[in-house]
Amino acid sequence: MRSRSLRGAVVAAGLSVLVGAQPALAAPAGHGEPRYSAGAPSVGDPYFPDEGNGGFDVLHYDVAFDYEPATRHMVATTTITALATQDLDRFDLDFRGPEISALLVGKHPASFRRDGQELVVTPRPKLKSGEQFTVVVKYAGTPPVITDPDESIEGWVPTDDGVFVPGEPQGSPAWLPGSDHPTDKATFTFHATVPEGLTAVGNGQLLSQKTVGGRTTFVWDSTEPMATYLATVTIGKFQVARSATPSGIPIYTAVDPQLASQSAATVARIPDIIEYFGSLFGPYPFASAGAIIDRAPDVGYALESQTKPIFSSSPSLNTMAHEIAHQWYGDSVSLSRWSDIWLNEGFATYAQWMWTEHNGGATTQQTFNSASNYGRAATSAFWQTVTTDPGPVDMFGSVPYNRGAMTLHALRGKIGDTAFFQLLKQWATAHRYGNVSTADFIGEAQSVSGMDLTNFFDVWLVQKGKPATW
Ligand code: TRP
Ligand code: ZN
Repeated sequence: MRSRSLRGAVVAAGLSVLVGAQPALAAPAGHGEPRYSAGAPSVGDPYFPDEGNGGFDVLHYDVAFDYEPATRHMVATTTITALATQDLDRFDLDFRGPEISALLVGKHPASFRRDGQELVVTPRPKLKSGEQFTVVVKYAGTPPVITDPDESIEGWVPTDDGVFVPGEPQGSPAWLPGSDHPTDKATFTFHATVPEGLTAVGNGQLLSQKTVGGRTTFVWDSTEPMATYLATVTIGKFQVARSATPSGIPIYTAVDPQLASQSAATVARIPDIIEYFGSLFGPYPFASAGAIIDRAPDVGYALESQTKPIFSSSPSLNTMAHEIAHQWYGDSVSLSRWSDIWLNEGFATYAQWMWTEHNGGATTQQTFNSASNYGRAATSAFWQTVTTDPGPVDMFGSVPYNRGAMTLHALRGKIGDTAFFQLLKQWATAHRYGNVSTADFIGEAQSVSGMDLTNFFDVWLVQKGKPATW
């Protein structure tokens, strides 16, 4: 969840951008001579114009590194397995990490150059459409802290005892080369070596943990497709505990010892939260669950890292529920363009409202009516942001969260509980591990309810001003 202190007096970005530049058309494959060209340097998302790449699709990342917190030095080898989607004589990766010592495509050293976050690779031999290939990148040094358009920080953020690693929306290139856009999901394996006594916690399941000569290697495997921004390997002194949900999903929690007692009650509710959301949204989408609770005061927000949300301080129960809800909405069902961030934040916020009611607190209707939601004065600047286009500066501001959640509550009133909960479940299951847009959601809401909701969604998502009738 967004930290209030970061919200500041940021002015709306004033961007009214449409989904623009699509990747260049791939050369036709299959017949005759290959027609080589360069892969597109990005996917053309207007909020982060350099994110992602064209011409190939990443299937798997294997990220192996040794990290020494005392010197902040990393020595890493990342191996990307990808599928060429056009005949390629050149392609880009996104990378903002330290110095590269070697880069191979397949077994062959490839020439490369760096230009901002673009790592431009010239493979020889060239790659044919449909070919599966590997890129091995060796690099060493200190990965950077990345500052976002709203001035919050992410990427590789050192802490007292290790490093805190949030990646939304553009942090993963700090420590791994890849295609940093949610439309290119992949599976991941991490091999993290750290000084004995520290724990490296990654997404997915712990395959092994071995100490040799005072250094411990943790191998984590993330077997369901994951967007790069949800990748983490957070390192520190942690109290580790294992449990399971009633339906048998293993839970791994890592809590900074200084936060252990104040976090215990919230951590203990993780199985209940997962079960409750499972009953509303359909089965939990991943093979494992957990949480990482650390001290990273300069970060100040939590993030829904896949299977292991990360918290920069001891979380409230509400924040825990919010990040767990994102596992369905955001992580499993992902957006296609960052302007649709309300599909993540509005859903996780509404889930949080439902959890609160379920847990004996305010009803969803009371929360809807409250002063931070519909109770805001019509003259408030809050109502002047377009929900489906908050801009990169305000994408984690209150509108995608609160107006997004209000939209869902209003929709529930409009189409009734039966259709609404059917829609929530269908959205999570039909698009599991996929990518979606607001237009997809409107289409499904109309087909599930049998109602024309054009005006409803226009009033709530597109028009400025406080909705009065819908
Ligand atoms: N998605 C996070 C949440 O709501 C919040 C978040 C991620 C964030 N990255 C951010 C907030 C950068 C501010 C700035 O759970
Ligand atoms: Zn969120």
